[in-house]
Amino acid sequence: MSICSLGYIRIAATDLNDWRRLGVDALGLMPSEGPSGQLHLRTDDRPFRFSIESAERNGFIAAGWELGGPAQFADCLAVLERAGIKVQRGSAEDARARSVTDFITIFDPSGNCLELYYGRFRSYQPFVSQQGVSGFVAGDLGMGHVVLPAAQLEATHQFYKNLLGFDDTDEMRIPISPDPTVPLLQILFMHCISRRHHSLALAPMPAPSGLVHAMIEARTIDDVGRALERCIVQGRHISSSFGRHSNDNMLSFYVATPGGFDIEFGCDGLMPDWSTWVPTRSLVPDLWGHAWAPPPATRS
Ligand SMILES: [Fe+2]
Repeated sequence: MSICSLGYIRIAATDLNDWRRLGVDALGLMPSEGPSGQLHLRTDDRPFRFSIESAERNGFIAAGWELGGPAQFADCLAVLERAGIKVQRGSAEDARARSVTDFITIFDPSGNCLELYYGRFRSYQPFVSQQGVSGFVAGDLGMGHVVLPAAQLEATHQFYKNLLGFDDTDEMRIPISPDPTVPLLQILFMHCISRRHHSLALAPMPAPSGLVHAMIEARTIDDVGRALERCIVQGRHISSSFGRHSNDNMLSFYVATPGGFDIEFGCDGLMPDWSTWVPTRSLVPDLWGHAWAPPPATRS
């Protein structure tokens, strides 16, 4: 096991201001400006957890995964080389833009882009939410989790498990249609060294934006409720109502972003002890709530 946590995600955007309204005004994240004009959004003492970058499209670019140091970085490079994975070394300028010492870019078998880095710097400006969010559960636990589309589910699962050292937390087999002949949707949940229940989930479902959703975890239920209210006041599409997931216990809602994917905003997620954890299979996604609403454009 060598990946410590989910460090950041990079997002392409045609309208940084729309992202600023959602991220800063509704979700209460702390903004700063990146070296090339990126909108950086912070949840803790890391220089950013979201990097929103001006582009001619909206969508997901990459997830940044943290390695423990130069030795783990070198080991990871050797493993990838032995496996014949194409590795692109990051330039010094691009490493500075990510506030990391060094990084590489690779792709998983389903085509998702990953950046593996070590030696991330800190921001020495205290985290302050203009909206009064009391704080986020992040730090060494990482920023939260991402759910990635994985058309090649088994190969992608093996890639994260055998090459990058992720381990299985659990899986879901859930109905996606009232029609019993439609196969159950299988979602695989994986963790890294961090005690977060899952930093990565793989879902064999299409996601034109490149990302199904990203989760961030606030400290209190009041933080979540107030963020939900601000999203509603702003007229954001609430993709899923308040609810509690059956596997990671997360109490959350989902809001549609300008990137074409959702942000899950939650609290109260499980932090298992991996030395005693036994992976299980969840047959329902939620203990209660989480009623899904299709985006307005697709409503009939
Ligand atoms: Fe989630």
